[in-house]
Amino acid sequence: YVIDKGNHRHFMEKEIYEQPEAISHALGHYIDFAERKVSAIAGSIDFANLSGLAISACGTAYLAGLTSKYWFERYARLPVEIDVASEFRYREVPLNANSAALFISQSGETADTLASLRYCRDAGLKIGAVVNVRESTIARESDAIFPILAGPEIGVASTKAFTCQLSVLAALAIGAGRQRGTISAELEQTLVGHLAEMPRIMSAVLNRIQPTIETLARDLSKCKDVLYLGRGTSYPLAMEGALKLKEISYIHAEGYAAGELKHGPIALIDENMPVIVIAPHDRFFEKTVSNMQEVAARGGRIIFITDEKGAAASDLPTMATIVLPDVDEAIQPMIFSLPIQLLAYHTAVFMGTDVDQPRNLAKSVTVE
Ligand code: G6P
Repeated sequence: YVIDKGNHRHFMEKEIYEQPEAISHALGHYIDFAERKVSAIAGSIDFANLSGLAISACGTAYLAGLTSKYWFERYARLPVEIDVASEFRYREVPLNANSAALFISQSGETADTLASLRYCRDAGLKIGAVVNVRESTIARESDAIFPILAGPEIGVASTKAFTCQLSVLAALAIGAGRQRGTISAELEQTLVGHLAEMPRIMSAVLNRIQPTIETLARDLSKCKDVLYLGRGTSYPLAMEGALKLKEISYIHAEGYAAGELKHGPIALIDENMPVIVIAPHDRFFEKTVSNMQEVAARGGRIIFITDEKGAAASDLPTMATIVLPDVDEAIQPMIFSLPIQLLAYHTAVFMGTDVDQPRNLAKSVTVE
């Protein structure tokens, strides 16, 4: 990896476009493409006999962890306890020594994540680290290292590290499912096949969506508040979208589980606050569409991020609709990350902020 911006205006833009290659590289470490199965995950964590998995991380890494909770529970039937590291470390979480703990960190140096790791280690848990920097403190203090192999990430707002974390966590959850006998070898092959398709799909999406996103970003840059909604794994992605936007454009944004709309945020809906609805045509689609109707009925403007089937199935008026290809639920979070990242990026560019080094933020937070 060469550390320069190449043809890009910012490292963040470069890192967004590097994702297909970075993910291919990361997956190559975990997947046997010829056999279509997960390889090399064992490390010293024996998923087969675990009673639970504790996950702790900060920022974007936490949201990758929250996404993986859905996968570990669904594919490996493994109960997951997850929290932001700054809470986890002080919560006095009762831990069972028959559980394992996973810490997700791009830098491997985040102070709160490291403190959570030490808490779990003292409780006798096996420790796994999903890190980008293999020589980091978090990696060194772990029993098993799961590198995400994203290459150096310079932009403060995480992009390729996030999708590489997701890809590695998806592979781990599938591998854990096989070890635990909760998914069949056939399902493993199917899921691994979907993972393997990701880089190609991502390249196609990246080549296509930029013009739509740029137009939309111009409108978004005039807004004061933005609400993101999603269900299932689109819920952590809604939070990641809001985080990315506020980090680099300084526009106030919130990510909510779409089902929580009527428990609060619906009071904020008016024509000034765009609502970004992340809704692939999955088993949650109809429910999310009914939330969209609630937004539309109150004069809210909708930015609909969906797939081809989803676009065909809804005729609600929107401010913009971004249509992605139909993909399996297992890889939706990675594919749907792309418009989320590009939207934040182009909005920030319109606003003229310091995209790679946004005010008040640090790439790695090594103090509490
Ligand atoms: C900082 C960075 C974020 C990152 C978080 C966790 O807040 O600005 O981009 O997600 O720390 O960092 P880590 O290195 O532990 O993933």
